[in-house]
Amino acid sequence: MPSSLSVLYDRAVSAFASLYGAPPQVVVAAPGRVNLIGEHTDYNDGFVMPVAIDRQVVIAASPRDDDRVELHSLDMGGQSAFSLGDIRPDPRQRWSNYQRGVALMLQKQGHRIGGMNAVITGDVPIGAGLSSSAAVEVATGYTFKTLYGLELDRVALALLAQRAENEFVGMRCGIMDQYISALGQANHALMIDCRSLEYKLVPVPPGVSIIVCDTRVQRGLVDSEYNARRLECETGARLLGVRALRDVTPAEFERRAAELPELTRRRCRHVVYEDQRVLDSIAALERGDLAAFGALMAASHASLRDDYQVSCKQLDIMVEAAAALPGVHGARMTGAGFGGCTVNLVESGQAAAFSAAVAAAYAQATGLTPQIYVCRAEDGVRALSSRPAP
Ligand code: GLA
Repeated sequence: MPSSLSVLYDRAVSAFASLYGAPPQVVVAAPGRVNLIGEHTDYNDGFVMPVAIDRQVVIAASPRDDDRVELHSLDMGGQSAFSLGDIRPDPRQRWSNYQRGVALMLQKQGHRIGGMNAVITGDVPIGAGLSSSAAVEVATGYTFKTLYGLELDRVALALLAQRAENEFVGMRCGIMDQYISALGQANHALMIDCRSLEYKLVPVPPGVSIIVCDTRVQRGLVDSEYNARRLECETGARLLGVRALRDVTPAEFERRAAELPELTRRRCRHVVYEDQRVLDSIAALERGDLAAFGALMAASHASLRDDYQVSCKQLDIMVEAAAALPGVHGARMTGAGFGGCTVNLVESGQAAAFSAAVAAAYAQATGLTPQIYVCRAEDGVRALSSRPAP
């Protein structure tokens, strides 16, 4: 077990034991994610290429014989409890709404669950765009699945977690984050077709590090702007007479672009070409052409900045600082945008020098101290240990 994960494991298990006087029956870990390319395409039925990272949410839990769910967050320093028969949002302990939403959706979909005691901790940075919320949802669903022997495969788990976020938390996210947290595979990215929900494994190129640079800019507008982008895409699809923008090729888009109002046209142009960039990325990676892949990452960033308008000054500065450094194949913003992180593909031999240099350049340009994470591609959600019930 990697050392950061065993630290989380020990922290969760010892907190559980001191709260409940017995070890937990199960310990589950679900990873955060970083997306290599394919941004704002998932909710247009398109293509994405994320990796699950070695940053996790860990839940230590045991079942109860009533319908009460007791949650303790070691990182938020709070406690929240509810009954399965009466699930409402908790306005004070808002972190618990992800678990509440998952418990509600499990029941809505006919799964028979009982209560649980749970301790939650993790090292996915919160609010940085690395999908800590998807990791919490997927970990919670998997914990219930393990405790109550539910028939719930990984794709169904991802869909249920997404539904909790859409319908209970109120963020109309696509499927990418929950899917990769549930189905990620070590040393691989997944090229996900967000319509068929099938994936293709894409090996992380040998000798290359995935480095995430957190601008430390809080993603303030993200929820409202995100939902607004979704509506703009839906308008575009309606005007073009397709089920989703996934159904429009770049050539078709160019033929019909003039029919669209200016803003809709720019939003659609991003999505249509971004889908094509994901497909081109697969081809580039299959022939080991990292320069071509890096150029696609750069084009993705420019399109998110200029057409989709979800970047920000600090993200642009971080990407420009990275692109100028030795050993960098590609750099772009990742996730929803409006702050958060960039993703960089860097020669492993240059990873340490890159991290120091990009941090210094960014700090000098912005006055902010970034966080730099050299990430490994990890497996999706899993049980770390499970002891038989007494
Ligand atoms: C957020 C959402 C995802 C996806 C990305 C943008 O992470 O949760 O579903 O839309 O933004 O690619």
